[in-house]
Amino acid sequence: ISLKSYNTFGIDAKARYFIEINSVDELRLALRLKEYPEKFILGGGSNMLITGDINALVLYINIKGIEVVEENKDGVILKSMAGENWHNLVLWTLEKGYGGLENMSLIPGNTGTAPIQNIGAYGVELKDTFVNCEAINIADQSLKIFTKDDCRFGYRDSYFKNEGKGKYIITSVTLQLTKHNHRRNTSYGAIASELEKNGISDPKIKDISNAVIAIRQSKLPDPKVLGNSGSFFKNPVISESEFHTFTKDFPNAPFYTLSNDTYKIPAGWLIEQVGYKGKRFGDAGIHKNQALVLVNYGNASGQEIIDLAHKIIEAVEKKFRIRIAPEVNIIA
Ligand code: EPU
Repeated sequence: ISLKSYNTFGIDAKARYFIEINSVDELRLALRLKEYPEKFILGGGSNMLITGDINALVLYINIKGIEVVEENKDGVILKSMAGENWHNLVLWTLEKGYGGLENMSLIPGNTGTAPIQNIGAYGVELKDTFVNCEAINIADQSLKIFTKDDCRFGYRDSYFKNEGKGKYIITSVTLQLTKHNHRRNTSYGAIASELEKNGISDPKIKDISNAVIAIRQSKLPDPKVLGNSGSFFKNPVISESEFHTFTKDFPNAPFYTLSNDTYKIPAGWLIEQVGYKGKRFGDAGIHKNQALVLVNYGNASGQEIIDLAHKIIEAVEKKFRIRIAPEVNIIA
């Protein structure tokens, strides 16, 4: 079957075999199917670029369910199964007045894949509310609970992208949310100005969510309209001495200072400076409002997107001596 509608990039790759998984038991049974030694795990398909047909049994994780498992002095502990669409989960929490996820409104993908890259936006990351996640070990189908420490979260990074890669399938995520329905993290400049524009001085969590939605819609393409995977690249992190040389040459560059004397440079800015923003090569292109996002205008192949990514990486390296790297998972 075609996976075009199962990946937000809209790449028309084919799966040799495909099954939809609706429960943890079904997942265990499917993993034991000896006839299909090669398995490929598919969640929301929002952070991957498929570069060819998948000659394996694709397990489409569609396990549903959201429940409050405990109320405590800090608020509520909420458990969501992996197949819940992330933004629907955020809306569900806002509806109930639970705070903590509002800054991460409208991030594409499913809850089960959120820990893999520690999704984040507008000053908040998944790790800020994360308690633990359950995962099935692919090798022996046992269930393991990963605490926050076990996950070793970093910027767009976790255990599941490193040592744990390809070993586990996350089946649920448990989060600690608050019951304070008022102002939380509005430190991100764009949120503050969006709230001010709307005359909101004491924002509720729903106001913050609405501000984030408005900002995202103005900058980021809707995958239903234009295929994309959000930020294609990570923002590069450079050392103090590299930063020194960099700012001497490019004094107007935006940057964020990180805690350990390192500096994060917005890759979108670097890409814009080398002239790629808004460019189109066949059906592969760079979004006109956010240079960090590569887009598929219709029938681009995964390889065409990769080729474009390489051109961008080289141009940025040539001008800035900084090598940017993809944040999306490239499926060879
Ligand atoms: N910029 C440009 N040109 C561009 C894009 C950005 O000059 O085409 C500059 C902006 O002017 C600004 C800076 O780069 O000074 C930062 O831009 P922005 O606030 O849009 O954030 P970002 O660093 O480009 C990151 C995340 C986004 C997240 C936003 C908001 C990464 C790789 N990306 O983007 O995440 O929504 O911050 O928190 O960290 C995603 O992961 O898919 C994603 C969209």
